[in-house]
Amino acid sequence: MRKKILAANWKMNLAQTEAESYLESFLPEMRAVNDVEVVIIPPFTAIATLTAFSEKLQSVRIGAQNMHWEKSGAYTGEISATMLRALYVKYVILGHSERRTLFGETDEIVNRKIKAALDAGLRPIFCIGETLRERDAGQVEQVLERQIRAGLNGVGKKDFTEVIVAYEPVWAIGTGRTATPEQAEEAHLFVRSILAKLADQPTADRIRIQYGGSVKPENAEELMRQKNIDGALVGGASLDPRSFAEIIRSAEAALV
Ligand code: PGA
Repeated sequence: MRKKILAANWKMNLAQTEAESYLESFLPEMRAVNDVEVVIIPPFTAIATLTAFSEKLQSVRIGAQNMHWEKSGAYTGEISATMLRALYVKYVILGHSERRTLFGETDEIVNRKIKAALDAGLRPIFCIGETLRERDAGQVEQVLERQIRAGLNGVGKKDFTEVIVAYEPVWAIGTGRTATPEQAEEAHLFVRSILAKLADQPTADRIRIQYGGSVKPENAEELMRQKNIDGALVGGASLDPRSFAEIIRSAEAALV
């Protein structure tokens, strides 16, 4: 019922010409992919490159890694939702743990951005996840519930299904250490139960929850087979077009 969504978060990697060569090897791999949704999320400087390829991209959507909540104005160095829309961007990552920890983004800032994205017709990929210290202290559910409630505060029920939630345990991001499929499924089930409390069960059942944190071709299929895992947000392994394509095929294989 929920179409799986596989997203490549390039982070601060691949300049414009590198993005072009990436697409040249990646696109042929996508020809037979129909059953899952694919999103590429390059740095801002390569978005226009993806837009230029968009006719050939067809089933591949474009995302951005961040945005400001205001529409325009004196915000040096920032980019608005409207500017992203003008480049045919559909998705925007908000609340990534690197933004939260390295750039001081609070739950409140994430909430403002989520509302601004939805107002502009962008779909937020809303990242949540606990640190290792929080996990060891038995606070996983408490942290996830706080992040979800704060991030979606004031978001109307009808907009809930526009949001993609990405569960990314901070200890699994870029560390090579993946959550086991059972650990991830348990967290996803919990996330869905909170979404059901905030909206209702049928709405929560339609929201896609991605897993992120050291997803690679070797572990993708098993993760994607879990009932409440509806895709992946892939960092490191998405920088190689072949390995990202392999992850996408694993997600398709998990459908049968
Ligand atoms: P990773 O990053 O796949 O390199 O762990 C995931 C992410 O930060 O979205």
